[in-house]
Amino acid sequence: AQATPAGSNSQAAWAALRDEAMHCTRCHLYQHATQTVFGEGPVDARLMFVGEQPGDQEDLAGKPFVGPAGQMFDRAVTQAGIDRRTVYVTNAVKHFKFEPRGKRRIHSKPDAGEISACRWWYEQERLIVRPEMTVALGATAARQMLGKTVTISRERGRAIDLPDGGRGWITIHPSFLLRMPDKSRVEDEFAAFVEDLKGAAASLR
Ligand code: URA
Repeated sequence: AQATPAGSNSQAAWAALRDEAMHCTRCHLYQHATQTVFGEGPVDARLMFVGEQPGDQEDLAGKPFVGPAGQMFDRAVTQAGIDRRTVYVTNAVKHFKFEPRGKRRIHSKPDAGEISACRWWYEQERLIVRPEMTVALGATAARQMLGKTVTISRERGRAIDLPDGGRGWITIHPSFLLRMPDKSRVEDEFAAFVEDLKGAAASLR
């Protein structure tokens, strides 16, 4: 619950923060990425989703979750009865980290130093949006949210009190579904992902 309703002040603060983030040099990732991919969504959203970092397509588009993982995310969110236009979507790390391989850019996991260098932006976004519930998608997001490493399978699917006073919910990253070697298990894992999202949304009421 918010002490003051989010209004034009929050919107202006968010826009200023986003502009500032475009010039971020807090870690080295800005050197090779196309642009900062900042969070997106209404500043008065009750639900915040946190991913890992922008992928190839997000880096080019400047928007979070628009590539293959984003399409998986959209599908799950829709099945969970959540309207993406009403939620705030961001990433734990706001620059794309990759290894060049020929013409392709292969996603590379952000390390502990990169995650903590980016925490400042995550914290500022949270101060403005002040979501009632924050869903961490995968281990990197959970690490940003909790300030420590956690095991997704042990922590997923229930409300957790966060160090900053908010409430959090941990689930898998949608890319996990795209990368599963055993395709026969994807359907069940997708259903479990949707259940986690439903649980997070239900906890708002
Ligand atoms: N994966 C993420 O974690 N975030 C994005 O924005 C896209 C893919």
